[in-house]
Amino acid sequence: MRLVAKLGAAALILVGAGAAGGWALTAPRSLSEAELAGISSGDPVQGQRIFNAGSCASCHAAPGAEGEARKRLGGGVRLATQFGTFVAPNISPDPQDGIGNWALQDFANAVLRGVSPGGQHYYPAFPYTSYARMKPQDVADLYAYLRTLPPVQGKAAANEVSFPFNIRRGLGLWKLLYLDPAPVVAEAESAGGAIAAGRYLVEGPGHCGECHTPRNAIGGLKKDQWLAGAAAAEGQGNVPNITGGEGGIGEWSEEDIVNLLETGFTPEFDSVGGPMADVVKNTAQLTADDRAAMAAYLKSIPPHPNGYTSAPTPAQ
Ligand code: HEC
Ligand code: HEC
Repeated sequence: MRLVAKLGAAALILVGAGAAGGWALTAPRSLSEAELAGISSGDPVQGQRIFNAGSCASCHAAPGAEGEARKRLGGGVRLATQFGTFVAPNISPDPQDGIGNWALQDFANAVLRGVSPGGQHYYPAFPYTSYARMKPQDVADLYAYLRTLPPVQGKAAANEVSFPFNIRRGLGLWKLLYLDPAPVVAEAESAGGAIAAGRYLVEGPGHCGECHTPRNAIGGLKKDQWLAGAAAAEGQGNVPNITGGEGGIGEWSEEDIVNLLETGFTPEFDSVGGPMADVVKNTAQLTADDRAAMAAYLKSIPPHPNGYTSAPTPAQ
């Protein structure tokens, strides 16, 4: 079966199972009262760090925005995937067109659970499958920071997604399978120090796995090939293997990784392009300690051979 047909069939099964297996199974799961009670008002200065670690501007600022324009979160970046084209919405504090009227609880449910204030599922093109690992207090800080940014008028265009993917309810089953806030590399916790701190940044806000980990036919991350490299979800080519396995970055020192995250240069003095160039605009704003923690974690994770099979052309 061709991949596209397979995807269509898988999605139909998911949607069908949603109807037959019970409406309840696909219901959006919001944070519980107890989880929400742990979130108090946030600190915008801390929130700016999470904003940079999470690369929110890469999708929610205008396409190609530089410098201060990356703080104008009117949306509009288009993500063309095999499931359809998703358009990042306006998340500026504008009360009409952005999220200026949202309570902290609404924001926390969106970022940590992929659920809208109206009780609908978001598409995982919004990488909440990683953000779900964020600490609630970091989400509160991020919320406080976003409120300091300029309101931007105008809504972004609608998503262009056709049947069966246009049925948001069908995402309920997908989320049951793939929305798991548990850490991926369990050993990194006991390692403590920089490795544990790096795990949080890479697996949580940094959402590095969303591009660097291969996906199965219905778009779920193959966690047994964590960060092993993948066919790009958007556009063409491959996203490189960033484990120490064959084809990966085993030869790189921690310094090399830190340097890439700060300057965009590889040890061969090539500069990374495509979506990674945009990631670096964000990681360059982090502290040296945060970049060092990410590098320590990457050097500690289980090595895997390349997670893609086609010729290793760089993704652009
Ligand atoms: C890879 C691109 C991408 C990144 C990075 C990203 N988002 Fe989004 N975001 C989206 C898309 C696409 C949607 C819409 C999903 C849908 O239509 O279901 C969205 C939706 C949202 C919404 C819901 C808005 C609404 O009007 O309902 C919020 C809030 C949000 N994102 C916040 C954030 C924050 C905060 C960050 C950084 C921590 C972030 N996003 C990073 C792509 C992204
Ligand atoms: C939006 C997708 C995306 C995200 C998110 C992403 N990357 Fe990348 N990354 C890429 C692509 C594509 C390349 C290849 C760029 C090139 O070759 O020009 C790359 C390259 C790299 C490289 C260089 C590997 C090599 O062999 O040259 C490292 C290291 C890396 N990324 C680390 C990270 C880390 C750490 C994060 C999380 C903070 C991250 N990436 C998040 C897409 C992404």
